[in-house]
Amino acid sequence: MPKEMLTVVDKPLVQYAVEEARMAGIERIIFVTGRGKEMLADHFDYVPELEVALKGRNREGPLQQIRALVPTAGCLLFTRQNEPLGLGHAVWCARHLVGDGPFAVLLPDDLVWPGLNAPPVMQQMCDQFEQLRSPMVAIMTVAQRETDKYGILDPAGETDAASPLVLAKGLVEKPAPDLAPSRLAIIGRYILTPEIFDLLGQRKTGAGGEIQLTDAMALLMKQHSLYGFRFQGTRFDCGDKVGFQMANLALALEQKEMRERLLPFLNEQLALWNDGSARPDG
Ligand code: G1P
Repeated sequence: MPKEMLTVVDKPLVQYAVEEARMAGIERIIFVTGRGKEMLADHFDYVPELEVALKGRNREGPLQQIRALVPTAGCLLFTRQNEPLGLGHAVWCARHLVGDGPFAVLLPDDLVWPGLNAPPVMQQMCDQFEQLRSPMVAIMTVAQRETDKYGILDPAGETDAASPLVLAKGLVEKPAPDLAPSRLAIIGRYILTPEIFDLLGQRKTGAGGEIQLTDAMALLMKQHSLYGFRFQGTRFDCGDKVGFQMANLALALEQKEMRERLLPFLNEQLALWNDGSARPDG
């Protein structure tokens, strides 16, 4: 099963990303997929059998929900990355569909849940982009030992902790902790301009022998200022088993009905682990 179809609480990761994009006013959504990911296209299509069954049982609510999931015809576009050459290559595969305007990139395994009363993260970024018209990456501060899991931003000058924007003077993909220029890590939300496609088209390989989006963005900085954006919200790394569980827990606890049943259970579990009667590791 494609990892994008893993369900967090009650919907697949890919749906969170698509809803986030649509809430930011993004109307055309391009999927760069690969072999075995046909399920993604089906998920956003009508399912007549299910609709008939729901109608027959007078389940109007769920019926509306599944119909709302399907975007306007022609607004979902699919292309394939036929070789696993890296994120930069995946983005390049969409070049003809993107055309010559700015575009956003959302990596569905990074589930980004907005802070209380904050708009969805892509909306936060689009609002900034309206003012700046410069490429932008979402960033968060990570532990020094974790820099080798992320693209890391090299800030130009002192960073002002009060400002959400950090002007970059460089970007490095997955630097070792002792070589990282900062602890500001890129997470899977970007707004880019189409000049990136020529740079990606040079097919230069970087960290891990892959064509890295981070490296092309570092080159793009010769033409455009590039900003890191400290978003309001929490990012869950759903490509990681623990991050995935955290996302399920955090999002379930946001819903009152689930919270009322989950909290007593969690307290019970905590007590069990704290008094040492639970099973030891492994
Ligand atoms: C990709 C990017 C990396 C970024 C990360 C965010 O890495 O290459 O720059 O920090 O996504 O999740 P991946 O997680 O695919 O190795």
